[in-house]
Formats: sequence, structure tokens, C-alpha cells
Amino acid sequence: MQTPIPDYLDEVLDTLRDDDSGATADYIPELANANPDQFALSVTTATGGTYSAGDTDAEFSIQSISKPFAYAAAIMDRGLDRVLESIGVEPSGEAFNELSLDPETNRPKNSMINAGAIAAHGLLLGEHADPEERVDRVLTLFSKLAGRQLRIDDKVFQSELETADHNLAMAHMLKKYRILTDDPHEVVTGYTRQCSILVTVEDLSMMAATLANGGVQPRSRERILDADTSRQVMSVMAVAGMYDGAGDWLTRVGIPAKSGVAGGLVGVLPDQVGIGAFSPRLDKHGNSQRAKRAFERLSKDMGMHLF
Ligand code: DON
Repeated sequence: MQTPIPDYLDEVLDTLRDDDSGATADYIPELANANPDQFALSVTTATGGTYSAGDTDAEFSIQSISKPFAYAAAIMDRGLDRVLESIGVEPSGEAFNELSLDPETNRPKNSMINAGAIAAHGLLLGEHADPEERVDRVLTLFSKLAGRQLRIDDKVFQSELETADHNLAMAHMLKKYRILTDDPHEVVTGYTRQCSILVTVEDLSMMAATLANGGVQPRSRERILDADTSRQVMSVMAVAGMYDGAGDWLTRVGIPAKSGVAGGLVGVLPDQVGIGAFSPRLDKHGNSQRAKRAFERLSKDMGMHLF
């Protein structure tokens, strides 16, 4: 007899719980305070069935996992051609906070690294859009994708903004090259609020399942993203979602994914499932150590490798 999915997910978490390697992010002081032992996993199918295990009620800031979904919003607001003028689709092969600009066009190499995600936030809604409305744009979109009203963690936001010199420096550089056309401080403030949206693993698996479904939310059946936009986002996740570890990840695990420094990890298998995992300790690339290993198990046991 096969093990029921929830028992299987519990078993995956149990076997990985003794891995306490890595450390919580400390460049955002508030994240260093997270309980490092939290661990949760959730899978949502393209037909809307959700299976979860572990600390499924734990809320954590979405951080870089916001990037693919905000990129989707920018594409829908401005059109893919306009977005491609400002942000490339090539792997950077560098850390998430490198200023990886294409030497010919000065565009950030992709929308998964901070420079590209700051540029994407600055494209939302239109040129010189109201900064508050840009934040509302992503909060409303993410809430629809997750199927419940999400909110911003103000403490995480303030904590990151106080130490955001690196992102501010990059935003000023982007302004110099006219990739950003609005005030760099306002765009980084909005981007930082975007990163501070609180989610659970079930929110993440639902958001990813919507992508897997070509943009239709599996439970509400509402079309939230265009099919072409969903494909663009999943492709860029495959190429660059795991930063300088993206090639190793795609060959070994084979699930287009995106990590966040609060310890979240989201993965998507087109037409099949969305996966969310969470555990705060990070490896040297800034990816959750245990979440990464949970994905490795799912890929192997359930034949989830894309190829
Ligand atoms: O901009 C930053 O540095 C953070 N708000 C997000 C970085 C992040 O999540 C990197 N991912 N693993």
C-alpha cells in the first residue's frame, strides 16, 4: 500500500529535522531573531488539492520569492517588450545582491537578482506611478494568488530599510543608467515593503500552483496571470531563481524554484504542482538548507525532475 501524502510529507520533514547546518540571515536584523527550528512543507496540485506538514501556520516574510510574482505584474502592466528593455533574462551566475549589469545595455541580467527586482518594482503600473499604489499592486496580486488577504510585516520592513544601503546604492546606479526613472529611495522603499509581505508555506504552494496552472488560481478558478506571462516567469525561475546555484539546482533537482532569505522556497512544475517549503537556516547562497533538501527528496521520490 502507498503511504498517504500527508504522512509522506511528515516523514520527509522528520528525516531532515536533524540538519541544523547554515544560519539565519543576519544582514536584516529582524530575520536573525526567527526561530531557526521551524520547518514546513506544502504541495498544491493544479486542481487545487493542498497537502501540508510541519509548521504550516508559521508566517514569514516572502523576501526574494516576491520577485517572480512582481516581475509578472510588471509584464502585465507594461508589456513584455518594455520590461525586456530594462531587465534581461540571462543567468547572472553571481550572488543575489551583485550588481550584475549587461555591459552593452546596462540592464540587470535578470529579474531574480536584487538589481533586476528593484528595476521590476520601478516598472509597476507605469512611469512615475505613485509609490504606495505600486505596493498595493503587489499586495493585491499576491493576495489573489494565495487566495487570502496578505499583509506587510512592518518590523521586518523597518529593519531591512535601516540596513538597505547596498540596495540603495544599486538603485542609484540603475537611475544613472536610466533603468530606473523614478526616485531610487522611493523605489527601494516600495521593493522592501514588497519583500516584507507575510506568507505561509500554503500561501506559497498556492501561488506557485497558479503559475503551474498557466495563471489560473486552482481554487477560485480565477485567471490572475496571462498564460504567456506565467511561462515567462517560470522560465526565468528555471534559469536564475537559485542565483549562482541555479545550474546545479536545475540539473540535480529539476524544479524551477525561487528562494527567499527568510527561509522560504517555492517551486513549480508546469501543469502539475506548486510547492512551498520553509525553514530559516540558509546555506552560503542564501537558500534555506532544509527547504532545499526537502525539495531534493520530493524530486527523487515523486519523480518531479522536469527532464
Ligand atoms: O533585497 C534583499 O536583500 C532582500 N529583501 C531579499 C533578498 C533575498 O531574499 C535573497 N534570497 N534568497
